[in-house]
Amino acid sequence: MNVFAINDYASGALQVMKQPLPPPPETGQVQLALRGTSINPIDQLIAKGYGAPLFNGRNRFPQVLGRDGVAEVLAIGRGVTDLKPGQRVLVAVSPKTGGTYAEVFNVPRRCVAPIADSLPDQVAAGLGYAGLTALQALDALGLSPGTSFGKRLCINGASGGVGSIALVLASRWGADITAVASRKNHAWLQTIADCQVIDYRDPEAVGSISSDLILNLASPAEEFDRCSDPLLAALRARSAKDQCYATTVTPILPYITSKGIVGGLVASGKTYLQRRLRLKFKGIDYHWVMFRENPEHLAFLADVFAESQSASPVGARSSLRDLPSSFSDPGRDSAPGKMVFLAED
Ligand SMILES: NC(=O)c1ccc[n+]([C@@H]2O[C@H](COP(=O)([O-])OP(=O)(O)OC[C@H]3O[C@@H](n4cnc5c(N)ncnc54)[C@H](OP(=O)(O)O)[C@@H]3O)[C@@H](O)[C@H]2O)c1
Repeated sequence: MNVFAINDYASGALQVMKQPLPPPPETGQVQLALRGTSINPIDQLIAKGYGAPLFNGRNRFPQVLGRDGVAEVLAIGRGVTDLKPGQRVLVAVSPKTGGTYAEVFNVPRRCVAPIADSLPDQVAAGLGYAGLTALQALDALGLSPGTSFGKRLCINGASGGVGSIALVLASRWGADITAVASRKNHAWLQTIADCQVIDYRDPEAVGSISSDLILNLASPAEEFDRCSDPLLAALRARSAKDQCYATTVTPILPYITSKGIVGGLVASGKTYLQRRLRLKFKGIDYHWVMFRENPEHLAFLADVFAESQSASPVGARSSLRDLPSSFSDPGRDSAPGKMVFLAED
């Protein structure tokens, strides 16, 4: 069977390779046939060696990448009682668990959720990893279906994969949203959600944002030590009540890469606690958001996006054959939202 994998960190190139089919699923696992998937930035970092001490401690290649997908159940291991062969499922897998870029792969049951016929492969293909991260980030900000109405939320990086899914969810829940993205993506954002739009290249407009809740999906990690996010600076300057800031961009992987697992985790923990304490004095509840595998959240996402009222966060689709070229040149297909790659195309 074909897999998409990297053979070294020097080139970081995703290549098509032949591998034997995986063995039958073990206890608690499911065996899946991939129907579609997407690219998540963490895989492009892993391909360059980021997080290698954690994700590939024995330096084994080829390393199969892939965080998400829509797939068909081929077989179930012992102890899996609620899935059956032929079912379509949504998949989201952490880099520690494995990769989805394979024609056939085994994952633990916790990485999948069954999906309704009304959720097309095109939407499901890129929903799992970015969607769980979006849901977990909104939760860190205290946002859920029953708690969001009228809350003033700003999403920085709203035109990306995580941002577009967070935008659709928070808009459905009634939040008052300001979406920050390139001007070229503003019209698309307003087709998927009810929101005000701001260009991050316009400092005056960014400075005027008055949301109490900030979801940062974009401020670059390399500037992390300088705390350069203008939205956090604006939040600090206002010092209003009930302010909260959550970011998916953290220095954990760069720290682990340069200091090893223990050193990296200690340095990250120290940075996080210092930052959290300092901002607490300013009245800001500060969070780092880390993707977590969660079958209940996955099932929730599958249900929301199966409903006809939910806008699709997919900006473009292509064939699975095009995955390696898009992977190595992320700017090439600069569509907003999720770009998905389908086996049938
Ligand atoms: N911690 C975790 O577990 C976790 C999980 C998932 C993702 N992440 C991280 O979260 C971030 C977002 O992920 P993603 O999948 O949504 O990435 P993505 O699809 O590549 O989207 C990133 C978006 O950032 C925007 N952007 C770039 N520079 C910006 C700037 N200076 N100011 C504001 N926006 C800017 C781009 O918008 P335009 O195209 O409009 O310019 C782009 O749409 C990535 O850094 C990713 O590594 C972390």
